Amino acid sequence: MQQILTGRVALITGAASGIGRAIALRLAREGALVSVVDVDPGGAEDVVREIREMKGEALAIQCDVCNEEQVNRAIEETEKKLGRIGILVNNAGIAGATFLADMSTEEWLRMFGVHCNGMFFFSRAAAKSMKEGDRIISISSVDGLRGRILGTHYSAAKGAINAFTATLALEVAHRGITVNAIAPGQIGGTAIGNMMMEVAPDFRKEIPVLRCGEPEDIAELAAFLASPKTGYITGQTIVVDGGASLAHPMNQFLLRLMRQPEP
Ligand SMILES: NC(=O)c1ccc[n+]([C@@H]2O[C@H](COP(=O)([O-])OP(=O)(O)OC[C@H]3O[C@@H](n4cnc5c(N)ncnc54)[C@H](O)[C@@H]3O)[C@@H](O)[C@H]2O)c1
Repeated sequence: MQQILTGRVALITGAASGIGRAIALRLAREGALVSVVDVDPGGAEDVVREIREMKGEALAIQCDVCNEEQVNRAIEETEKKLGRIGILVNNAGIAGATFLADMSTEEWLRMFGVHCNGMFFFSRAAAKSMKEGDRIISISSVDGLRGRILGTHYSAAKGAINAFTATLALEVAHRGITVNAIAPGQIGGTAIGNMMMEVAPDFRKEIPVLRCGEPEDIAELAAFLASPKTGYITGQTIVVDGGASLAHPMNQFLLRLMRQPEP
């Protein structure tokens, strides 16, 4: 099968685990050379090993996305060793579950540091050298569209990603660069997803498709948005949540009725 990203350089933040790892493997399978950027060097090396086992090319870089100097070094190292970055995936993230009344200033600033400052530092630097056909993809969340109890900081940071995406898309559209966000619902098998499952263990029963998402569900859309065929999709925040955000109270009630066993 033809690989759609052969020779393209993709930098993915938070790629040592979870959704970022799945995106790194998926893009590598399409022929991309992958810069696996994460604050966790051991996890990043493991992902690079997996990519090399698939006969792909990858590079592990330890970087805290909140730190501008480290971000600039990660970009320089990627460009030196792999080439110009054509696909940037802003994925690094942290979770948090605190009522606003109990939230420390440090928690609030950290949430924005990882999700928003990281995206800003990477996108600003990468966009400068981007060319026609290049892509910026950021991992947002449905929480950034509808809010989530215990997550004013998380939801606000994800909402900022959506607004940033729409605005940057407009600024670079004439250069043929697209900028999109993916808003996952509940994704299992990741540190962030597992934390939410501890808070709401029966949540999967409320999802219309009756399962949590998997990191690969998000990676599939990332690969599609990264492909050269999607140049007319830009500025969008695309929800991938098994229909969960359609389940407003009336639909939720009707779904429960539909699922009741026949008498
Ligand atoms: N899992 C879900 O249900 C879910 C839902 C919606 C959105 N998301 C978003 O998806 C993204 C990936 O999350 P995940 O579920 O795979 O969780 P995860 O914890 O498995 O992955 C997050 C990765 O980001 C890295 N990271 C954290 N802080 C960093 C920093 N300062 N610098 C560099 N790397 C850093 C971590 O080391 C980790 O490898 C996040 O942005 C998250 O908010 C996840």
